Amino acid sequence: MNIGIDRLSFHTSNYFVDLKTLAKARSVDAEKYYVGIGQEKMGIPSPDEDVVTLAASAAYPLMQDGELDDVELLLFATECGIDQSKAAGIYVHGLLEMSARCRTVELKQACYSGTAGLQFAIGFVARNPDKKALVITSDIARYELGSPGEATQGCGAVAMLISANPRLVAIEPESGYYTDDVMDFWRPNYRSEALVDGKYSTRVYIHALLESWKQYAEESGRALDDFDRFCYHIPFTKMAEKAHQKLARKLGIPIEKKEMQALLEESLRYSRLTGNCYSASMYVGLTSLLDTSEEDLAGKRIGLYSYGSGCVAEFFSGVIQSGYREFLYTEQHRNLLENRIELTYQQYEDIFNYGVPTDGGEYVFPQYKTGPFRFSGISQHKREYESLVD
Ligand code: HMG
Repeated sequence: MNIGIDRLSFHTSNYFVDLKTLAKARSVDAEKYYVGIGQEKMGIPSPDEDVVTLAASAAYPLMQDGELDDVELLLFATECGIDQSKAAGIYVHGLLEMSARCRTVELKQACYSGTAGLQFAIGFVARNPDKKALVITSDIARYELGSPGEATQGCGAVAMLISANPRLVAIEPESGYYTDDVMDFWRPNYRSEALVDGKYSTRVYIHALLESWKQYAEESGRALDDFDRFCYHIPFTKMAEKAHQKLARKLGIPIEKKEMQALLEESLRYSRLTGNCYSASMYVGLTSLLDTSEEDLAGKRIGLYSYGSGCVAEFFSGVIQSGYREFLYTEQHRNLLENRIELTYQQYEDIFNYGVPTDGGEYVFPQYKTGPFRFSGISQHKREYESLVD
């Protein structure tokens, strides 16, 4: 029995900053961002958007299509938890009017937790082949203003329906994984921006790739040329390209730039426009690949590399199913990305500094352009959400 991703839907904020604007404000050559790290825009969440609204908006098309009716497991992956106790997924469960007969929990391990969710969901479906799971990855990448990480900020969420006989991607059983206790990137509970040892983090990302590939290759007996495409975790698109080059070189098959672009480019298109989406990043890459590849990818094998700082990494693979294009939300994703509103530098800084009040008072947030749900305010330390659809 094949198990894997049956539907896949993505959402990001309706606001962005062009990295040319940031470059000007920071007196940096814009080519450093556009070419050096391979990023063009960063998605900026409005004050009435958070990981809950991004997640619920990502899953909304599945709700409209009646795909959530028989979901009995909701796994919410994020590193931007909004509460130390209550899982953010419970708010999403409510907004999406899902059945009470459902297990709901939040998962955390930096950018890796979505992959943990996917693998746990596959285990659930293996035991209950007639049941479905919903895995949502949702994050907002924030670094200090003026820091090296600033240009890699972004936000986004991906909702994945996991089932037997999936219509999009069957996930193969072999996997290579790797854990190491390192401080490359972290965010103590009292901070709203991540701390990062940037250059070190890029080296750990690559080391963890080589280690997890080793186990995957031993288990599967596959080599790099058994893959038609690759989707990497994408903190910035250049990182994915560099990692693939390193892996190929390590395996003794150095790769030309053109050849590498053919393997990776389609998966990097959305991320170049959204920025890092932490736990959602690799799945934004997968959505981008499926949505934008001109080639019919049915029957093609893709290699997936998930990395979460701290760190945990996993290399695994999936095979794209025939007829997959019929079940994508390509048009919705294109409309979203094409109709975002550009922020000036000052607007960006104002939104960045807006902050969530912590004094237990009554607050109603101004209404920005969001998806179908918004974070409307706070009352007595309780977050309030509003559905903008009937
Ligand atoms: P930096 O140190 O300011 O940048 O920030 P740089 O000086 O290394 O320049 C970047 C690249 O631009 C270089 O290319 C320059 O040569 C080039 P490279 O040498 O690397 O090939 N460059 C130019 N190119 C064209 N025209 C120019 C120009 N100027 C320079 N004029 C850094 C880079 C990665 C440190 C920073 O972005 C950062 O701290 N980012 C955050 C950390 C990060 O993303 N790490 C990635 C691995 S860890 C990870 O993926 C996990 C994560 O997602 C978190 C999680 O798991 O939750 C982050």
